[in-house]
Amino acid sequence: MIILGIETSCDETGIALYDTERGLLSHALYSQIEMHSEYGGVVPELASRDHIQRILPLIKEALSVAHCELADIDALAFTQGPGLAGALLVGASVGAALSFVLKIPALGIHHLEGHLLSPLLSTPAPEFPFIALLVSGGHTQLMQVGGVGQYQLLGETVDDAAGEAFDKTAKLLGLGYPGGAALSKLAGQGRPGRFKLPCPMLKSGDLNFSFSGLKTAVLTLTNKQKMDQQVRADIALAFQEAVVTVLTEKSLAALSRSNLNQLVVAGGVGANQQLRQHLAEKTALMGATVFYPQLEFCTDNGAMIALAGALRLQAMDKRESISTGTFTVRA
Ligand code: KG4
Ligand code: ZN
Repeated sequence: MIILGIETSCDETGIALYDTERGLLSHALYSQIEMHSEYGGVVPELASRDHIQRILPLIKEALSVAHCELADIDALAFTQGPGLAGALLVGASVGAALSFVLKIPALGIHHLEGHLLSPLLSTPAPEFPFIALLVSGGHTQLMQVGGVGQYQLLGETVDDAAGEAFDKTAKLLGLGYPGGAALSKLAGQGRPGRFKLPCPMLKSGDLNFSFSGLKTAVLTLTNKQKMDQQVRADIALAFQEAVVTVLTEKSLAALSRSNLNQLVVAGGVGANQQLRQHLAEKTALMGATVFYPQLEFCTDNGAMIALAGALRLQAMDKRESISTGTFTVRA
C-alpha cells in the first residue's frame, strides 16, 4: 500500500510517499523560513499563499523520485491540525480533491502524532511501548505511547514551548528567526559557569514544564550586562543548559515512573546537540535507550505524516476493511 503524506501546518510544505512494504519511497520539502525571517516570525497569510504555490510541484517531484504515478497511490494522509488555519486548509483541500478524484481514502493526521511516530522511520526503530518527548516550536509534551493511537499525556508546558523559548531568547540576543539552531551554535562559544539561569519547575514534582520565566530571566540579565559577542555566547550557553537540564530530568522521571526503557525525542528542538549529549549520557546510566528521527525529519516534513497515515490505515485494516473514496477525518 502506497500512502501520500501532505504536511502544511506552518511554514514547511512537505510531501512524501511511503510504502508499507518498502518504507519511505521519496520526500520533498520546501521551507518558507527565508520569506518569514524578514518579519521575525511566520506571517500566516503569506504561509498559506506559498503552500498553494508549492504543493502541486512538490507532489510531482515526490512521485517522480519514487517512479510512481498518481494512480499508484492507495491512500493519502494530510495534517489536520494543530497549525495555522489557512495553511492547514491548503493541505486538506488538496488531500480532499485527490481523495475524490482518485477514489482513495484520506486521513486527517494530528501533527504531533506525526512527530512522535517519526523515529519509526529510522533503523533501529523503537518498539512500543515508549516515552515520547515532543519538543517543537509550538509544543512541549511528555507522552506515554502504547501503540498507534494509544497516547497518554504525562506532562506539558504550562506556557511557552521549548522551541518558542529558544526563538524568543535568540531574538533577545539579536539572532534571526527561527533562532534555535543559531542560539545553539552561539552557545558553543560560551564559557561554562559564567552565568547561571533558573531551571523552571525542575522540582515541581510533576512532569510539566514552564519556559516563559526563563526568557524573562535572560531579558533581565541582558539589561544588566555590557553586551558583547562573548557575553551573548555565555548567556546563550546558560539558557541552553537550563532548558536541557529540565527536559532531560523530566524525561528521565517519565521513564522511571512508567517503568519503560525507551525514550523517543521528536520535534525541532530534538536537533539540539547539547540535549542529545545529555540524554545519551543520562539514559545510558539508567539502562535506557534514546531514539531520534533522522535530522531532516526532526522538523516538519511530509514523511512523518505519510508514516502516521500508513500505521493508522494498517491498524484500521485489522478491524475493518477500508472502503475507497471515503473522506475520513481522525484526530
Ligand atoms: O518541529 P518544528 O519544525 O516546528 C513545529 O512544529 O513547531 O520545530 C521548530 C523549532 C523552532 O522553535 C526552532 O528554533 C527549534 O525547533 N530548533 C532548535 C534547533 N533546531 C531547531 N532548537 C534548539 N536547538 C536546535 N538545534
Ligand atoms: Zn512540527
